[in-house]
Amino acid sequence: MSAISIQSVSKRFPNGFEALKGIDAEIRSGSFTVVLGPSGAGKSTLLRLMNGLETPTTGMVRIDGEIVDRRKVRHIRSRVAMVFQQFNLVDRLSVVTNVLTGRLAHRSWVGSVFYLFRQEDLGIAREALCRVGLIDKAWSRADKLSGGQQQRVGIARALAQRPKVILADEPVASLDPVSSEEIMTLLREICDRDGITVVVNLHQVDLARRFADRIIGMNGGRIVFDGKPEEMTQSVLRTIYQREGIEDDTSLDMALAYA
Ligand SMILES: Nc1ncnc2c1ncn2[C@@H]1O[C@H](COP(=O)(O)OP(=O)(O)O)[C@@H](O)[C@H]1O
Ligand SMILES: [Mg+2]
Repeated sequence: MSAISIQSVSKRFPNGFEALKGIDAEIRSGSFTVVLGPSGAGKSTLLRLMNGLETPTTGMVRIDGEIVDRRKVRHIRSRVAMVFQQFNLVDRLSVVTNVLTGRLAHRSWVGSVFYLFRQEDLGIAREALCRVGLIDKAWSRADKLSGGQQQRVGIARALAQRPKVILADEPVASLDPVSSEEIMTLLREICDRDGITVVVNLHQVDLARRFADRIIGMNGGRIVFDGKPEEMTQSVLRTIYQREGIEDDTSLDMALAYA
């Protein structure tokens, strides 16, 4: 069974803009998929549909066979973790408390409100911090860490959810090249070692090529390529990065330059 099944999904926002136009994709359990495409292609919208942050206008998304539905968001969150470009940490809280918030989807409403965590949760959080190499920073304030370290905390928080799927929306877009490399390596390792299905939105062609099992190329709300990294030729890249009516496209030039 696919970990994620996307069937005939379209998304029209209240202002009438159609961000996704008929998306079909089956994402295999334990695979590492990169969704590649220029800004505005619909990558974030697609990812948000996978954890119930958005509802499709038509079609459906399934996680492990179960339809993703707004009413079941809490249940979905216990299985689908998200990693963000801006890390989304609570700055003034310690690193370990941030990681513990990953346990909230598994806890009662009262416990969530009062940040009551069990001893068991603390063990899970510590384990996640060891995993990302930050156990020595457990009691530092989150905002005292570097960008790369903060993203590691974001990943530890995702791991603390004990998820089946990790969705990462441009996780390295705010990082320097060295930290980007480390974060991608870490996500790949989590996929390989823990068998967690990973989907990463990226706009960097080189990273997509090096880390993905499969690349889904998007442009204008459609999938315009779906294949292995080695199948992504220069002409495919033009299709992914082309913008209608634009002759001298610097974003296309940049994408090709790094390819
Ligand atoms: N809530 C919204 N209302 C209207 N348009 C939106 C909304 N969210 C995103 N969009 C539009 O949908 C398109 C796709 O956005 P997004 O999924 O964020 O693309 P990407 O992540 O590939 O940059 C963009 O043109 C964006 O402006
Ligand atoms: Mg985006």
